[in-house]
Amino acid sequence: MASLAETKLSIIQQSLSSQIRCQIDKNKQMLLPINDNWTCYGSPIEAYEDEFKPVLDSENIVDLVKKKSSPVVIDLMAPSDTLASLFRKIPHKSKFGIALSYIDRRSTNKFKRDEKLGIKQLAGDILGVTTWKEIEETLNGRKADLIMERAIGGKMTITSNVRVHAVLLNRVWKLLSNDYGILLVEMPSCGNNFLLNNKIRNLSDWLSLLKEKEIGVVCAGNGTMKLTKTPNSPKELPFLE
Ligand SMILES: C[S@@+](CC[C@H](N)C(=O)[O-])C[C@H]1O[C@@H](n2cnc3c(N)ncnc32)[C@H](O)[C@@H]1O
Repeated sequence: MASLAETKLSIIQQSLSSQIRCQIDKNKQMLLPINDNWTCYGSPIEAYEDEFKPVLDSENIVDLVKKKSSPVVIDLMAPSDTLASLFRKIPHKSKFGIALSYIDRRSTNKFKRDEKLGIKQLAGDILGVTTWKEIEETLNGRKADLIMERAIGGKMTITSNVRVHAVLLNRVWKLLSNDYGILLVEMPSCGNNFLLNNKIRNLSDWLSLLKEKEIGVVCAGNGTMKLTKTPNSPKELPFLE
């Protein structure tokens, strides 16, 4: 049986941890510009189709996903609505999706919708180690056929440090299937030089390096990029040093 002192200590600890939790929640709210009130939020898949059109050639996202027998799709920095809009267009019984947003703001109806469609909504900071652990655990050994990240606004609120964005891009790359998994991403650019560590290099040098390493790459003037992971692609993305 716990002594009086132990009981008191446990009460103090519980109240402290709930205060800390409360403070963390408050900080999260403060970090979110206007209460997570983004100009683009929960966009339909058609908005992504438009955005990534310049790198998709004549293909579209829905058809790319339909080609897979049990598609696995991740939408980073987004609530689950876009995945729901995509999965409603995919007849496959077996499909699996993960959406990562900073906060889970779903209603009960949206929660039920996601359950039916095979979508998990995670809430966490993309910079947090535990968030990546949670993504890995949710994937449970699966690799993604398609990863989308249409969140340039959100990304720029995190940091303008290109090295951090390079590290994040590499983390995303590791989640991708090497059976021609596709990554559609909006990249923060600094003119012609981005993601190239702290040395000013030419974007075209980096693109050539990716192609040399058997990574499919299409880059468009609107800052969108499509990377394709092939069986011969490296596990880590090469960056110019
Ligand atoms: C501009 S919205 C984009 C939403 C969606 N991709 C779309 O196009 O409709 C930004 C999203 O990024 C998320 N976000 C912002 N900062 C984040 C962070 N540090 N970690 C994870 N998600 C974050 C927000 O919660 C929000 O869902």
